[in-house]
Amino acid sequence: MVPDSADILMPGVALAHDAHTVALEPQAQHLACFTGGMFALGGRLVENDTYIEYGRKVTDACVWAYKNAPNGIMPESFTMTACPSRDACPYNDTIGQQHPGFAEVSDPHYHLRPEAIESVFYMYRITGDSAYQDIAWDMFQAIESKTRTDLANAGLENVMEDSGAKVDKMESFWLAGSLKYFYLIFSPPGKMSLDDWVFNTEAHPFRLRGAREK
Ligand SMILES: *[C@@H]1O[C@H](CO)[C@@H](O)[C@H](O)[C@H]1NC(C)=O
Ligand SMILES: *[C@@H]1O[C@H](CO)[C@@H](O)[C@H](O)[C@H]1NC(C)=O
Repeated sequence: MVPDSADILMPGVALAHDAHTVALEPQAQHLACFTGGMFALGGRLVENDTYIEYGRKVTDACVWAYKNAPNGIMPESFTMTACPSRDACPYNDTIGQQHPGFAEVSDPHYHLRPEAIESVFYMYRITGDSAYQDIAWDMFQAIESKTRTDLANAGLENVMEDSGAKVDKMESFWLAGSLKYFYLIFSPPGKMSLDDWVFNTEAHPFRLRGAREK
């Protein structure tokens, strides 16, 4: 449930209490943002647009969090308010949210993670919609301006405030994953085509058997 009633789906936490009861906790995590690309890629593979649409809504949820967080960067984890169903619903703030849509920010760090741009990359390659390049550019500019140091880039202590305080650390997945997906989304789609390459969890590319030499 978000102020602009955006038609998005944020992956949450499912608690299986017993064999028949699964409870949803609407806890958003940056790490879970890869599921947008996963659904879209799966939908393309089995030729089912329903899954591509799930992929779009999940990717758009993470993009929503980037756009609506005060510094243009999604925090590590936060609680949302769930709509009654998976359909978009009107915003109804009963707790007075300081940042509307972010009910409670449990971890305000940004560790230079790749999962959101990963899904934006897959959506761009699968749909060909150049709006995803604009989204990626906004994300890149926000991240670059807040995380840049004299040497490279550093994680952020708290993306929900303006202090700009950095963590004295650059995770290797910034280079292996985040920057690779940013680079590829602004490259011609033939560069590491998804018809020829598979990216593993840390975005290391594996050439498919029989793929064309590029
Ligand atoms: C696509 O997936 C949805 C969700 O699982 C399913 O309801 C639908 O029947 C599938 N469509 C096709 C054409 O397989
Ligand atoms: C908003 O939520 C409260 C608490 O769940 C509920 O009592 C109220 O009817 C809701 N208002 C609207 C306009 O849906």
